[in-house]
Amino acid sequence: MKYETIGSPISYGGLQLKNRIIFAPTSMGLTQDEYFEKIRRIAAGGCAMIIIGDVPVLKGGFGPSLYTRKGFAFYRRLAEIVHKEDCRICAQLHQSDSNLAAMIRYLPGVLTHKISMQDLRVLLNQQVGPYITGMPVRKIRKITEGFGKAAQLARQAGFDMVQVHGDRMCGSFSSSVFNHRTDEYGGSAEHRARFAVECVQAVHRSVPDLPIDYKLAVRQENPHYGNAGVLVEELSVFVPLLEQAGVTSFHVTLANHSNLEDTIPGAKHPQFSAEGCFLPFCDAVRQYTSLPICGVGGLTSPDFVEKQLADGRIDCAAMCRQLIADPDWVNKTLHGQTGDIHRCLRCNRKCLGGIQQHQGVHCIYEGGNRT
Ligand SMILES: Cc1cc2nc3c(=O)[nH]c(=O)nc-3n(C[C@H](O)[C@H](O)[C@H](O)COP(=O)(O)O)c2cc1C
Ligand code: SF4
Repeated sequence: MKYETIGSPISYGGLQLKNRIIFAPTSMGLTQDEYFEKIRRIAAGGCAMIIIGDVPVLKGGFGPSLYTRKGFAFYRRLAEIVHKEDCRICAQLHQSDSNLAAMIRYLPGVLTHKISMQDLRVLLNQQVGPYITGMPVRKIRKITEGFGKAAQLARQAGFDMVQVHGDRMCGSFSSSVFNHRTDEYGGSAEHRARFAVECVQAVHRSVPDLPIDYKLAVRQENPHYGNAGVLVEELSVFVPLLEQAGVTSFHVTLANHSNLEDTIPGAKHPQFSAEGCFLPFCDAVRQYTSLPICGVGGLTSPDFVEKQLADGRIDCAAMCRQLIADPDWVNKTLHGQTGDIHRCLRCNRKCLGGIQQHQGVHCIYEGGNRT
């Protein structure tokens, strides 16, 4: 078969996947029923696992909470929907690094439209450094332990795996751009890795047999992209420490906290316009681990994806926009129908654009047409 590697099963950090394609974590801004249906369609299209984006680690986080009866039922239903389509499901455990007190301060400006959502993002990003640097150790411990508790609840709700979101708070603690602490959580790369390592350890302690994926956010200099996360030169410290803590696979991408269009790059992005634009970061991570690595970012071509997998450059390929554009990408690829695939154009018009305009994630192909 032409796409033999794409269609081949793999033990991904101990979790058996039926093929190599994963739906990348994606917050959708849809109503509950629309979201269930979108996730069901993607699972039915043949991918091996779906990562549910931004599952809050603490009780007070944004979005459905694992800690409330309603939120827990929401996740349990999601797991049932995905499993019914013979697909695995992973919860991305997410802790925001936005300072809630600052957010409340800006709220009147947002409500009176004096501050746009884009401006708010910039203002909140400016608060990340002081917030991370000044956080009391007591609060740090509460959050890291929260990862363990959330993982336990995710397992009870039916998730097969968790992904520790290594951007956001983990990424900000990791980054010398934001983290200016002088205690054991700041300074050297070892110290900056401590927060993420403790999150992973807490998950491993509370559910020892649960595979732990880590979204490893890598930032680049010359030219500079990404502010949170780990420099390529620091991977030799971070990757082994995370592996020792209990990580069983890595999902590698560019770090955030710059323009969203850098981590979700459009077709005309000056640096990341190519197919598989973030795979060089996977090559860098590969030097320090033999654990499975999942690539993400601009993966749309069956031939290209097959080659990266067959060459062993990556073990799995995650797609966000391509599976929004065509949930049947996997089935079409494996059944000789690649010519029928709606290839994602990386226009960002209705997926990222839909979120930014508060209309939820959609695609120009919806309804069978490009609109
Ligand atoms: C609408 C949208 C929502 C996203 N939500 C999340 C999220 O909740 N968590 C996350 O880690 N990444 C999120 N991402 C980033 C994707 O997981 C992925 O890394 C990025 O889109 C690049 O992959 P792609 O080229 O296959 O789209 C989102 C991307 C899009 C377009
Ligand atoms: S709207 Fe454009 S970028 Fe978004 S999924 Fe559809 S084709 Fe891809």
